[in-house]
Amino acid sequence: MNRHLISAGDLSRDDAVLILDTAAELASVADRPIKKLPTLRGRTVVNLFYEDSTRTRTSFEAAAKRLSADVINFSAKGSSVAKGESLKDTALTLEAMGSDAIVVRHPASGAPRRLADWTSGRVINAGDGTHEHPTQALLDAFTIRQRLVPDGRGRGLDGLRVTIVGDVLHSRVARSNVLLLDTLGAEATVVAPPTLMPHAIDTWPCKYGYDFDAELRKSDVVMMLRVQQERMSAAFFPTVREYRRRYGLDTGRMALLPEHAIVMHPGPMNRGVEIAAEVADSPRSTIVAQVANGVTVRMAVLYLMLGGSEVAV
Ligand code: CP
Repeated sequence: MNRHLISAGDLSRDDAVLILDTAAELASVADRPIKKLPTLRGRTVVNLFYEDSTRTRTSFEAAAKRLSADVINFSAKGSSVAKGESLKDTALTLEAMGSDAIVVRHPASGAPRRLADWTSGRVINAGDGTHEHPTQALLDAFTIRQRLVPDGRGRGLDGLRVTIVGDVLHSRVARSNVLLLDTLGAEATVVAPPTLMPHAIDTWPCKYGYDFDAELRKSDVVMMLRVQQERMSAAFFPTVREYRRRYGLDTGRMALLPEHAIVMHPGPMNRGVEIAAEVADSPRSTIVAQVANGVTVRMAVLYLMLGGSEVAV
């Protein structure tokens, strides 16, 4: 494993499979009456969040606590950041308090990479701008393997076809997933309106297209992306109705998927925009499982980066 986890592209196939296998071992802790292991006792994990989060922040906190680490939650809102303190000075202040790892979310792409230059502890990217969200890709890969790869331990996602649909331009989840899916042997296809397709998409290790309906029957996984209105400085599509008509996953489109296919969404969702409520709540949806798996996958990441190489659960 590398010292930091900044990009899903930094992970070798062996690293990624080790994280998924370790998460599978650690999943049993969630079923215990006392959901704790002493593994990271005496270690301190700082959650440094400059941007809103529900799933990532709370699951990193739960993951660290289940491994008995001390957790410091830092939110830029209400801190000295409001008085102009820089990311570097904030990080050095937290490190002086004894942090071993900093889990950072930041609206600026590249902020975790800069942070890694300034700190001696481990840095884990919890989402930077429109760049990357590697632990989301890991929990998505874990969920796909759990559902679609029988006896998945030690294995990747070879040959599985994953269609990623929606606002790819603003999506750090899409980029991290494409990189990790390629590493694990899956075939990713990205589908978006032309206005929401990154200009450099032909440099990504995936196929791409603009016709969602053409991909449905050949997909093992459909991963819907949130339309990120808050990052849009212009009108990228005429109306929500038009977007939904071409790129929304409703029950009609879901019926065209192969019987075994699953529907994913990283959350938060815009119900009725990129995904219909009936689809989000259907048995094919893995959205709740993704959240639960987020805790075990982040336990595995913290364990492997701060702990050791064997799991005794
Ligand atoms: N999927 C995800 O990153 O969700 P949060 O923004 O709630 O952390």
